[in-house]
Amino acid sequence: MAPYPTLQALLSGRSLAAGPRRGLRRLPEGEESQPYDHITVAPCTSLIGAQISGIDLAEPVTPEVFAELDRALLEFKVLFFRDQHRVTGARHRDFAQMWGELEVHPFLPQGEVAEIVRFEKGAENAGVENVWHADVTWREKPALGSVLRAVEVPEAGGDTCFADMAAAYDFLPEHVKTAIRGRVAVHDFTLPFGIGMDPDKLKEMQEKYPAVEHPVVRIHPRTGRRTLFVNGIFTTHIVGLPEEESEELLKLLFQQASVPEYQVRFKWEAGSIAFWDNRAVQHYAVSDYFPQRRVMERAAILGDRPR
Ligand SMILES: [Fe+2]
Repeated sequence: MAPYPTLQALLSGRSLAAGPRRGLRRLPEGEESQPYDHITVAPCTSLIGAQISGIDLAEPVTPEVFAELDRALLEFKVLFFRDQHRVTGARHRDFAQMWGELEVHPFLPQGEVAEIVRFEKGAENAGVENVWHADVTWREKPALGSVLRAVEVPEAGGDTCFADMAAAYDFLPEHVKTAIRGRVAVHDFTLPFGIGMDPDKLKEMQEKYPAVEHPVVRIHPRTGRRTLFVNGIFTTHIVGLPEEESEELLKLLFQQASVPEYQVRFKWEAGSIAFWDNRAVQHYAVSDYFPQRRVMERAAILGDRPR
């Protein structure tokens, strides 16, 4: 028998053995979780996600609290806050800005301030963000992180799932790791945002935001962990592979985000905020609330060029 499952077996899902996932780890190898003194941190799963309490984000964040939030973000990859009803668009922007300059999105509608994108979903505009992805990977410098705030939530449904892409990488079979080592892939906004766009406008935007190449596996700039960095919305192909092989390999890589052991699922309430490390996770907005309304606002923090 072959030492590793074949690509075909992996694609059929039959290689995913039942039983514990041994070696799931939140932190880089050899690092231990340190206590948090200024915020309360309740892990959502053994791997990813934490609910943060003891903090009102409508108030200025002290340097001590900022340092702990920053550390928690690297450890848990996505932080959840409840009942932040007093956070306005301007306060949302100011909070996110503590991590760096914010992006002004060229395609999505703005909220009450320019750096906030507003997702207003309902019967007229159904939610289509139900594909695993990281935000704005079609940019040369994709977002470091995103801060998403629930303004109006459906009676039920509309959760967001997050997947730890370092775990997704760690658990790849060795021969797949070998196959993607040193490879780069092309990311392009055209697939989701080009649909229905006027051809002249599309050409103009493609000149302004040409497709970019990013490593298939990026090294997280803060934690040093290897992280799978291709996604089903923006990644078109792996450079240097025949089309069919690139497609097969990408399908396999995209599937990794769908493993429940790598995930956390967040149920939104009005006033909830999620802050994720866009370099470390992918997310999936469950689109099960049509035709109810779901209104969210997002700030995205500019990141660095993946390497
Ligand atoms: Fe997104």
